[in-house]
Amino acid sequence: MFPRLGLGLGLRPPHFPRVTAGPCPGVDWFEVITENFMVAGGNPRRVLRAVREGYPVVLHGVSLSIGSVDPLDEAYLDALATLCAEIEPAIVSDHLCWSSLGGHTVHDLWPLPYTAEVIDHVVARVAHVQERLGRRILLENPSSYVVFEGGELGEGELLAEIAGRADCGILLDVNNVWVSCRNHGWDPRRYLDALPADRIGQIHLAGHSHEGALLIDTHDHPVCDDVWALYGEAVRRFGPVSTCIERDDRIPPFDELVAELQLARDAVALRETA
Ligand SMILES: [Fe+2]
Repeated sequence: MFPRLGLGLGLRPPHFPRVTAGPCPGVDWFEVITENFMVAGGNPRRVLRAVREGYPVVLHGVSLSIGSVDPLDEAYLDALATLCAEIEPAIVSDHLCWSSLGGHTVHDLWPLPYTAEVIDHVVARVAHVQERLGRRILLENPSSYVVFEGGELGEGELLAEIAGRADCGILLDVNNVWVSCRNHGWDPRRYLDALPADRIGQIHLAGHSHEGALLIDTHDHPVCDDVWALYGEAVRRFGPVSTCIERDDRIPPFDELVAELQLARDAVALRETA
């Protein structure tokens, strides 16, 4: 249902010069933050076109706000459709969250209540987005630090039900599974149990930070051993799903990220020889 692209990296501005200078051995594809490339002119779009000439590109959005009760932003969907037509991304994704209310938008990705009402609400909105874009999207499990009272099912079950009913995919962020499970006392392997293998269209890996009793999804560290172990489990269950590493702060030299990506390649190879 979803392309198997291999191993990729989240492309960030400090690495624009390196990536546009020539081939990048060890990297099969690049993911970019959609909103940073929505302006039709300018350097980011030029860079994206150049990267796309050599690599599959994945568009990863942060402001769809699919769970909000505000109307979907049609201007945003128009701009996304235009970007898709130009770049022909292999995958388009956003988060299972809400980040706007009453016309006000924030930069946080807030979790949703785990209820049947939310499933109905999100399924209808995903249908609208997919119809507008003419393609399936993936929804990513966010990391969270609080949960609503009155949940009727687990987050994994919520994702699975939405993906099945909306006919969309799941972007499984393994670090976010680990962070949320540690923060809420959930079992990460039981979280994976709930997910349908045929809906997992992409995997994210990232690092996090410790702040008191909480894990915070900061993307400013290498992937930790616990998350690598959970990734190995995910690959064993779901196969060689397109996987990328996200790094958004304390960004290391490009070659350091490529070396880290090799660990994901090793995990996939281990699964294939097992
Ligand atoms: Fe992610």
